Amino acid sequence: MSSAQIDYDSIAEIYDWYVDADYDIPFFLEETADVGGPVLELTAGTGRLSLALIQAGVQLTCVDGSRGMLAVLSRKLKDRGLTAEVLCADVCRLDLGARFRLALLPFQSFMEITGEPRQRQALAAVFACLVPGGRFVCTMHNPAVRRTQVDGTQRLVGRFAISGGSLVVSGVERGGRPLVKRLQVFEFFDGDGRLRSKRLLPMAFELVERDRFETMAREAGFHVLALYGNYDRSAFDADRSPVMIWILQRARVQPSAAAHEAQAARRRTRRSSGVALAGAASSVR
Ligand SMILES: C[S@@+](CC[C@H](N)C(=O)[O-])C[C@H]1O[C@@H](n2cnc3c(N)ncnc32)[C@H](O)[C@@H]1O
Repeated sequence: MSSAQIDYDSIAEIYDWYVDADYDIPFFLEETADVGGPVLELTAGTGRLSLALIQAGVQLTCVDGSRGMLAVLSRKLKDRGLTAEVLCADVCRLDLGARFRLALLPFQSFMEITGEPRQRQALAAVFACLVPGGRFVCTMHNPAVRRTQVDGTQRLVGRFAISGGSLVVSGVERGGRPLVKRLQVFEFFDGDGRLRSKRLLPMAFELVERDRFETMAREAGFHVLALYGNYDRSAFDADRSPVMIWILQRARVQPSAAAHEAQAARRRTRRSSGVALAGAASSVR
């Protein structure tokens, strides 16, 4: 059974038929250009982004919770004569050792990790995979903009030519505070336009507010290096930006050690002057 909460195994073989986005690839090629070491890609799926990075020479470890999605990725790697480490694991339970200088979580998929406890587990797990000073690029939609589509209306994703006919994908979303329930609909038509079959995929994702994510990230031991509002690196605009692209950096001290050091510094300050210093935690940097 997949560790992801959406049953991607059930649509793994058709995912590439309807997901053909490439708007974020130049951004991630830039992010990975000078890493000089292994890069961790979380929620890699069937390798929409992975293949471009590997072809550019990035030494990639691809993690996903769906065996079906990874089977498609492995097949594509083999067909193209490419290599990467491919691991089936839940992002929230990763245990790979601190060996990566960069971790990526593309395609706004952090939103599929729902509920604060799991989100905090994921951040802690990614932190533990990074070398001190390593970066984490974490992507999600901007709740204020994305929520405008969560209105119970069935929206067309697209009509895609497939062997012997076409595939029409649409979706309807409800909720949004913060959990969104989406029903994705797949309709298969033959060459004469007759409906041949229909499949449904229930999905759930969370609209993660900026302040809450920032608090969780800082408490997991990350510094915020940048927050972009789009893949052209424009500054985040809370009313207009489609996405939040967080560039985080692992602090050089473990959060527990940092908290301990901050507490010790406060004790030292109280002993020496009787006044507590609010900035004692700056030793984390
Ligand atoms: C929308 S797909 C994106 C796949 C790929 N990154 C892309 O851009 O096409 C989301 C992927 O995240 C994976 N996923 C979601 N939650 C996960 C988790 N907690 N641990 C590991 N993988 C997860 C799913 O299995 C799925 O393959």
